[in-house]
Amino acid sequence: MIDYSEKFEKMRIAGKLAAKTLDEVTSYVKPGVSTNFLDKICYEYIKDNGGNSAPLYYKGFPKSCCISPNHIVCHGIPSKRTLSDGNIINIDVTAIVDEHHGDTSRMFFVGDTSIKGKNLISTTYESMINAISIIRPGIKLGDIGETIQKKVESRGFSVVRDFCGHGIGTIFHQPPNILHYGKKNTGEELKAGMIFTVEPMVNEGKFEVKILNDGWTAVTKDKTLSAQFEHTVGVTDEGFEVFTESDKNFTQPPYLI
Ligand code: MF3
Ligand code: CO
Ligand code: CO
Repeated sequence: MIDYSEKFEKMRIAGKLAAKTLDEVTSYVKPGVSTNFLDKICYEYIKDNGGNSAPLYYKGFPKSCCISPNHIVCHGIPSKRTLSDGNIINIDVTAIVDEHHGDTSRMFFVGDTSIKGKNLISTTYESMINAISIIRPGIKLGDIGETIQKKVESRGFSVVRDFCGHGIGTIFHQPPNILHYGKKNTGEELKAGMIFTVEPMVNEGKFEVKILNDGWTAVTKDKTLSAQFEHTVGVTDEGFEVFTESDKNFTQPPYLI
C-alpha cells in the first residue's frame, strides 16, 4: 500500500484556497460588474492567501481565472464585458500552493435567472455529485462517464465531448483524462491515491462546441446555454475525498435543497 497522506494534505491546502476564492467572489457577482473585476478579486485573494493562480500565462492564457457566461462552455477570458441580469456564469479558479494545484469551478446566477438556466445548472451539479459519490478503488473511469452522461441525457441535455477532467497534483493537467460520457466497466481502474478533477460541461442543446478567434473561448455551436461545475478529488482506501469543498456550503446551487 502506498502512503498518500502527505500528498493529500498538500492537495487539501490548495483545494481549500481555490474553494475559498470562489466563496469570496460570490458576493461580487452582480449585474454591471465586469468579468475583469471578478478576475482581479480572484487573483488578489489567491495571492493574499499564499498561493498563485495557475491559469495566468498557462500556455499563454492572459488572465488568472476563466469566466464563462451563458453560451460560453469554458475558457472564457475575463474582459471589460459586464454581467447583465439573467446571465448564468461559470468561474473556474486554480490555486497553486506549495506546488500543488486545487482546481474548481461553480455556476452563478446574475440577478434573476430563467427556469431553463436553473434546470441546466442543477442537472450539471447533480451529475458531478453523482459521479463523485461512486468513486472508490476498483471502479473504472467509464463508470464516472456513464453516471454523468445518463443523468444529463435523462433531462434532455448533452455532455460536451471536446473537454474532459484530468489528473492533477504538482502538474496542472496530466493523465488520466476523465471523460464525462462513456460506458460502465470500461477504461482505467481507479486506485487509492489517484487525484483528478471531475468537471462536466453540459449544453442545453447539442454537444458540439467551437473555439473563437482568441484561441481560447469555447462556445456552443448552436448558441444554447452551457453550464459546468468542477471539483478536485482524491481516491482513498474507502472511497473519495473532495479537496475543493466550500466551508460555507456555497458549491451547491442555492435553489437545490
Ligand atoms: N481550470 C481549467 C480546467 O479546469 C483550465 C484552465 S486553463 C486556462 O482544467 F489556461 F484556460 F486557464
Ligand atoms: Co480542471
Ligand atoms: Co478548472
